[in-house]
Amino acid sequence: QTHLLGIEGLHPAEITTLLDLADQYAERMRRGLPAGDALEGLTQINLFFEPSTRTQASFELAGRRLGAEVMTMAASSTSLRKGETLIDTALTLNAMRPDLLVVRHAMSGAVALLAQKVTNCAVLNAGDGRHEHPTQALLDALTIRRAKGRLHRLSIAICGDIAHSRVARSNILLLQRMENRIRLVAPPTLMPAGIAEMGCEVYHDMEEGLRGADVVMMLRLQRERMEGAHVPSEREYFHRYGLDAAKLAHAAPDAIVMHPGPMNRGVEIDGAIADDVTRSVIQTQVEMGVAVRMAAMDLLARNLRAARGRAAMGEIA
Ligand code: CP
Repeated sequence: QTHLLGIEGLHPAEITTLLDLADQYAERMRRGLPAGDALEGLTQINLFFEPSTRTQASFELAGRRLGAEVMTMAASSTSLRKGETLIDTALTLNAMRPDLLVVRHAMSGAVALLAQKVTNCAVLNAGDGRHEHPTQALLDALTIRRAKGRLHRLSIAICGDIAHSRVARSNILLLQRMENRIRLVAPPTLMPAGIAEMGCEVYHDMEEGLRGADVVMMLRLQRERMEGAHVPSEREYFHRYGLDAAKLAHAAPDAIVMHPGPMNRGVEIDGAIADDVTRSVIQTQVEMGVAVRMAAMDLLARNLRAARGRAAMGEIA
């Protein structure tokens, strides 16, 4: 792979390779060992056109831990505010010869478009509109694999605002690819049209949707992408779709609870459930985020160096 734009282009074997490497990085970090120098001599630019806490911080940490020179730019501090287009911004940054470009953008497809405009640089999608958030799905997969000991034949309930969620889309693609049973639970207004055709089970009731699930993944209401759609009141939403102890009791007794963050306590999840470390793996998800981003950038850097090596050989020949 030259870029990491989505789960859509990944083969199950590539997913497993990346998770295995991320697992090794996670283990090294847990033991306080140095991570190595896989990105030594490389420049990483993080370009975030939408707010982020977890993704931005973990990409930055991942790059630094592997020896890259890292620069992070927020949209509010770029010339986009003065009317420059995304493509002109990309070409400007490309002229500075970065090796890794990490991009988050509000428009679906924007990161892929940008990847077509840059040369000699690996582009990583840190979330584009409601399209994909591949590193989130990969860190979720690693968290599940570590908690459950496997990443196949699990019953996984993804609950909440699925219609506006790039996290849900990337997770559905990845978890189906690894042969899991996917149950989507949402009010009809927050369920994407035609989703059943992707092979997912569709539920509008939490009790039915969570029955026997091994993994319960909660999503927040993404009001920034709702564009006039009916937004339920938070109290009404929590009553019907918020994860509390009574609803979680319908899942498997050893079910784990996940949330990609940012989390709205008392809206899609009861704070007591989120904090219950016997069930919640939310902090592990954050921890795995750094390891997965280290692995993703390490693998892309290897491909980049190999491509440069081939190009150099071609020039000599
Ligand atoms: N999960 C996630 O993408 O969080 P941030 O928006 O804080 O990066």
